[in-house]
Amino acid sequence: MPPTPPPTEIASALGARVLGQDEAVREMAVALAKKVAGLRVGHILMIGSSGTGKTTLMRAVEEYLAATPSLAGRSAVVRLHANVLGEEAEAGRPGAAVFRRLLERAREQLGAGAEREQLLARAGGGLVFVDEVDKIRSHVGGSPNVRGIRAQEALLTLMENEVVPVDLPAWLGGGTAAIDASGLLFVCGGAFEGLYDAVFDRVTIGEDKGALQPVTVVEDGKVAERLIFHLADWLRNDDLFEYGMTPQFLARFDAVVLLADLDVDILSRIFLEIPDSGFQQSRAYFESRGVKLAISPNAVREIARAAARQPRLGARALKEVFRRVVREIEFEPEKHAAQGVFLLDLPHVARALKHE
Ligand SMILES: Nc1ncnc2c1ncn2[C@@H]1O[C@H](COP(=O)(O)OP(=O)(O)O)[C@@H](O)[C@H]1O
Ligand SMILES: [Mg+2]
Repeated sequence: MPPTPPPTEIASALGARVLGQDEAVREMAVALAKKVAGLRVGHILMIGSSGTGKTTLMRAVEEYLAATPSLAGRSAVVRLHANVLGEEAEAGRPGAAVFRRLLERAREQLGAGAEREQLLARAGGGLVFVDEVDKIRSHVGGSPNVRGIRAQEALLTLMENEVVPVDLPAWLGGGTAAIDASGLLFVCGGAFEGLYDAVFDRVTIGEDKGALQPVTVVEDGKVAERLIFHLADWLRNDDLFEYGMTPQFLARFDAVVLLADLDVDILSRIFLEIPDSGFQQSRAYFESRGVKLAISPNAVREIARAAARQPRLGARALKEVFRRVVREIEFEPEKHAAQGVFLLDLPHVARALKHE
């Protein structure tokens, strides 16, 4: 077998797609390095506010594995929404959705002529991304969420590293097979909305009142008291139990990784550097109209600042803000351009954002 890439190399590939999340990127890079070396890897739980890059990181891994010749076709990878598991679990087929997809992926990789045993082995060593895992919480608004509970139980069975009975799809002859699931790697991610506030409350006004002490800071020459709160400093397993992740389910994760909230600097970089950013998309459109779109650094910053004021959207806010900025110009780019160039500057941005 060809040598597998080191974590540093994997991290730099993932880090080009997911900015400002070094910790999560490194954790993922090490897990992948172990996985492709055929070693056992502990499951990972990623927690991060909406729009901080969770799904992007999962996609980046899928694409990295597919695009790297020494890794392509080595591991079956699937990404599915936790709600799908909830529905399947309700229908009494826990885990079926996961294996059905893994087997399909295995068939794509190994070809239609692959032996059944080969397919089962490939599926049993797959990488499974479960997105929006917070949707399968065990209770919602004080009442039990049966779908969520069943889905967590189903995942638990697959994560417990045992041989699991799996209903095989018709194309594989149907029936049931015992699949060794000990090689599966689960990476689950979710925003866990409300968790941040719940933990903040716990350490300020709740059970652990007074734990978070204000610090004295000097701002604009004035002395002030501030509460500086980072979820990572205070999050305990109990907080996640209370949120609705059962202790048994949580216990299957070796690592809980918190994604950082994105600041103005990172948002500016995402806006400029990420290929599918609103700016890059608009630039391609302008180009198709024969106009080069340029933007001044302080215009970028103003857009990032406006996006940062909507913390619940994360980097998604960039697109929404930029839409407001370019909407008018996109109608007739040629008219606004001088010598084939349109320079988007700060006054323009300020004007467009003020008009709302
Ligand atoms: N850390 C990041 N680095 C690069 N792009 C990001 C990052 N976070 C979010 N984005 C961009 O914002 C959008 C939403 O990100 P996504 O990963 O779907 O967020 P979520 O954390 O809610 O899953 C995507 O278009 C993505 O390109
Ligand atoms: Mg997402």
